[in-house]
Amino acid sequence: MYPLHRPRRLRTTPAMRRLVSETEVRPRQLVLPMFVKEGLAEPAEIASMPGVLQHTRDSLRKAAVEAVQAGVGGIMLFGVPAERDAVGSGATDPDGILNAALADLRSELGDSTVLMSDCCLDEFTDHGHCGVLAADGTVDNDATLEVYGEMAVAQARAGAHVVGPSGMMDGQIAFIRNALDAAGLTGTGVLAYSAKYASAFYGPFRDAVESQLSGDRKTYQQDPANAREAIREVQLDLAEGADMVMVKPALLYLDVLRSVAEVSDVPVAAYQISGEYAMIEAAAANGWIDRERSVLESLTSIRRAGADIVLTYWAVEAARWLDR
Ligand code: PBG
Repeated sequence: MYPLHRPRRLRTTPAMRRLVSETEVRPRQLVLPMFVKEGLAEPAEIASMPGVLQHTRDSLRKAAVEAVQAGVGGIMLFGVPAERDAVGSGATDPDGILNAALADLRSELGDSTVLMSDCCLDEFTDHGHCGVLAADGTVDNDATLEVYGEMAVAQARAGAHVVGPSGMMDGQIAFIRNALDAAGLTGTGVLAYSAKYASAFYGPFRDAVESQLSGDRKTYQQDPANAREAIREVQLDLAEGADMVMVKPALLYLDVLRSVAEVSDVPVAAYQISGEYAMIEAAAANGWIDRERSVLESLTSIRRAGADIVLTYWAVEAARWLDR
């Protein structure tokens, strides 16, 4: 008796494997998250994210141009302000670091890439929460929406093509859409961080933005135990006018990503977050895994699970590998 079925036939040669490969990762699908810090003299490496920098306004421009030349599909910008306060004033100030740097990038890059901005208060508040606080210390959803609306308008005016609300406030997509439209910014898109989980893997990011958070975000970010809730969040964001939806983190939530991809009628993004980056970098630095193969396998898996767009700190390097 011989085996009736031999799946190995489709794996015999590189040419055969290339022919039958189902999933492709292309540079244009990758978005590079970048950090710019106010008042910084020299770019500084983030200790828990080896290879990732806090940029000065100047080094940001140069690195962004290189990223676009490498073929990445977009840039997601985060700002690290010099001063923070209870309401995150730096976020709505047109001269605030994030808005100023968005203007730099838009004037440098024009429409040659898709410029996205983190529309969230945690980098700008002295308590480190993603919204403003009520008198009892809880995050005040509706008061936060007012600030998000202003922040989105400031970012769009500064040059963002797409704003990315990542604070998980209820109603944030509709509120921001309405604020943009009322300001005449009908062409600015909204990338909804729809299913964002309260993850331990954001740790290195909090170093990157020098977060002042004590406590956690469990009253607004989702419980890692819940999958069904992600679909509800996505459906609400779609109904509120999201142009794209996102699942975050990526690798630990591939099941969620798959279900979101099945229900979404807009492009689906996944954010391969700081802790996913740090894990692979740390293991590779120890010689425990092969760095390039691990990175590309992780990106392939995220695409296979259903992401059209992947935010990844390896975007530029991966783009170069993929173009080789
Ligand atoms: C909030 C925000 C966070 C990340 C992106 N946007 C941090 C958080 O929710 O605590 C995390 C990204 C990463 O870990 O790479 N503005």
